[in-house]
Amino acid sequence: MKSMEKIVSLAKRRGFLFQSSEIYGGVQGFWDYGPLGVELKRNLKEAWWHDMIAGHNELLASQGAPSQFEMVGLDCTIIMHPQVWKCSGHYDLFHDHMVDCRESKKRYRFDQLRGRWVEYREKKIFVATLADVEHELDEVRRRGMKYFKLRNKDAEKLSVSNESLTVDQLDSTANVLAPDAKTLDTLTEPREFNLMFKTTLGALGGEEDATFLRPETAQGIFVNFKNVLDSSRVRVPFGIGQVGKSFRNEITPRNFTFRSREFEQMEIEFFCHPDQSSDWYRYWRDRRLAWYTGLGLSTESLIMREHHLEELAHYSTGTADIEYAFPFLPEGEYGELEGIAHRGDFDLRSHMEGKLDPQTPKGQRMEVELGENGKPKHRGSGKDLTYRDEVTNEKYVPHVIEPSAGADRAVLAFLCEAFTEDEAPDDKGNLQTRTVMKLHPRLAPIKAAVFPLVKKDGMPEVAKEIYGELKQKFNTFYDEKGAVGRRYRRQDEAGTPFCITVDTESLQNKTVTIRDRDTLNQWRVPIDQVADELGSRINQ
Ligand code: GAP
Repeated sequence: MKSMEKIVSLAKRRGFLFQSSEIYGGVQGFWDYGPLGVELKRNLKEAWWHDMIAGHNELLASQGAPSQFEMVGLDCTIIMHPQVWKCSGHYDLFHDHMVDCRESKKRYRFDQLRGRWVEYREKKIFVATLADVEHELDEVRRRGMKYFKLRNKDAEKLSVSNESLTVDQLDSTANVLAPDAKTLDTLTEPREFNLMFKTTLGALGGEEDATFLRPETAQGIFVNFKNVLDSSRVRVPFGIGQVGKSFRNEITPRNFTFRSREFEQMEIEFFCHPDQSSDWYRYWRDRRLAWYTGLGLSTESLIMREHHLEELAHYSTGTADIEYAFPFLPEGEYGELEGIAHRGDFDLRSHMEGKLDPQTPKGQRMEVELGENGKPKHRGSGKDLTYRDEVTNEKYVPHVIEPSAGADRAVLAFLCEAFTEDEAPDDKGNLQTRTVMKLHPRLAPIKAAVFPLVKKDGMPEVAKEIYGELKQKFNTFYDEKGAVGRRYRRQDEAGTPFCITVDTESLQNKTVTIRDRDTLNQWRVPIDQVADELGSRINQ
């Protein structure tokens, strides 16, 4: 099991991630990307944009797709018309249940509190922890012993149940020891909490001017469906992709960037004929999983979890989550990286006709919820968002498949996957433990580092020339300070896949060595071929 503590410490030490506003004590749920982090995240988003949108060849039905299809992009605003959120359902339904602890004054998401029954001398208490606490059993035992004032030598007198339950499965919270409390029964009743950040338009600032920061990028795509159709040549089936910031006022932001309040999404809304939607659902599910493994996430750390029927939204006939075994989770548990949802015609219909009544049973026609005056409560735009097939003349509301990924979660998964401790020889040939970030070359923040072996004999001049040439093509780093072994180590920690060293031989025969970060192999290449050699290896 990799240590999350070490990963977080490396991320800060090497400039991948910093806590936002750190000099003022930080603000929970907000993170800044440092010089290495910003490059990694840009590379990830560019790989997504290239592989899903710009580099997509619409003339080929590629990788098992049911037919040819087109992909285009969009970049929509963060603040949208407030009615968007009413019709999307976010205004009424996008909430979590929270509970407060009267003792610790902390707030928790109700569904995230779980724990076990602990018994000592016929007294039974339920020790609650947060769902993603590593070594949950140890934590429950430790707090149980503390509560009953037992010492280590008395540990066996305490019994801890095998079954882990969530707090919402209990009849009452009277015997619950909350995660940060010392006494029982400190949790309040659960209350609904809307996750959208509210803001105000204009200077007057009345309630009618209230609007929200978008909690997902998807709605910008739905409300522009007709604009895209009318302004480009795309025909169904086609997809629209968007990368951008989303905001959610999460009750318990935690686990580094995994659950943040400001984060980036990479979303596709794929529009298709209802009869083909199941095939497209399967296509996107498999293709998205392959994208992660292609960039280096190991198949052992990833699972595709199909939602059970009762988990599905009322309009969905299928949803799958791609989940990753993040090291902060207990062994055998996975955290969501991306959801791929079959959304039927729910979104386009909602923006056309009005909000769907959430009680409407699956498969039944949409009903508009009526207000007290008998008029529809959440009117749609009234715009016709149907699609007419030019060949068959059929008119229909397309179904949507939505692969929705989080850029920050993906960065975190790639950081966790890349973090490796192995052994490598130091300058004297002795094996030493080294920390190396084995990032895929496409994602690596710095692609190559150029070193003169020593800071004399004309080596720096040659190295600087190579650096200048490579810098035009890739993010390259130049370093001439300290022993070469230490320079390699620094680049290993940054995840730089290739180091180029100028040595005495370079001055004689115009070749340099290239060192591979992962295999530690070194080979000589003529200086004028270095850029091509790196180019082919980075894009492989
Ligand atoms: N449009 C569908 C949608 O937004 P979601 O499952 O709520 O679905 C999609 O979000 C992805 O966005 C998640 O799989 C996750 O990667 C990312 N995401 C959601 N909430 C997040 C948060 N608070 N912090 C970081 N990433 C988040």
